[in-house]
Amino acid sequence: MAVGARDRYLDLVLPPRIETERLQLRAPVGGDAVAIYDRYGRDPEVTRYLSWRTHTHLDDARAYVATVMADWDDAIAPRRTWTITLRDDDTAVGQIGLLSQGHRMQMGYVLMRALWGHGYVPEAARALVGAALSLPQVHRVWAFCDVENLASARVMEKAGMQREGVLRRWAVHPNVSAVPRDVLAYAIVREV
Ligand SMILES: CC(C)(COP(=O)(O)OP(=O)(O)OC[C@H]1O[C@@H](n2cnc3c(N)ncnc32)[C@H](O)[C@@H]1OP(=O)(O)O)[C@@H](O)C(=O)NCCC(=O)NCCS
Repeated sequence: MAVGARDRYLDLVLPPRIETERLQLRAPVGGDAVAIYDRYGRDPEVTRYLSWRTHTHLDDARAYVATVMADWDDAIAPRRTWTITLRDDDTAVGQIGLLSQGHRMQMGYVLMRALWGHGYVPEAARALVGAALSLPQVHRVWAFCDVENLASARVMEKAGMQREGVLRRWAVHPNVSAVPRDVLAYAIVREV
């Protein structure tokens, strides 16, 4: 399928705006940087197990948002990162993304600390898992988390994924260590 046609197809299933029972997932905009910085980008407890360094200046959040906006329609491997908001307020409270890897899609997510424990990210994750698996070419939605990040492991379980094992020395989580760390891998696959 031509790249342009593929992107239009992705737009149908993974559109810039998705609503769940309590949340809105929408394409990121430059203005999200302020809320991202204030609400979680600079919070070391939130960013501890992420792939990016804790923000120390608003410009870090601006650069991060610029990257995820540019990745939305990447010709080789589009990475769609939605800003999560509550339904009645357009301000960013988190983000959730899917990286397209051929027949696989990889998920990642983050939520501001004040909203942890209400099942918000599992709600968003279930919506994206359903959408991704509705694409006929997608057979696997997967994610990983640091072996110590048990809150994230619970999100994957609540999204219907199964633990597949430990990927040793898989990811650098720079706020913990410069040395690659072991991660827990989870996936949900299309049944044949
Ligand atoms: C992981 C994360 C997305 C969970 O989102 P959430 O919407 O709070 O998810 P849930 O409400 O379903 O809670 C999931 C687990 O988080 C833990 N948790 C809940 N509230 C918590 C709190 N206030 N403090 C610490 N952990 C908490 C619990 O283990 C919970 O599991 P349980 O429901 O079996 O008790 C969120 O904690 C987060 O943004 N963490 C930092 C970023 C991150 O690590 N992202 C994943 C990278 S792989």
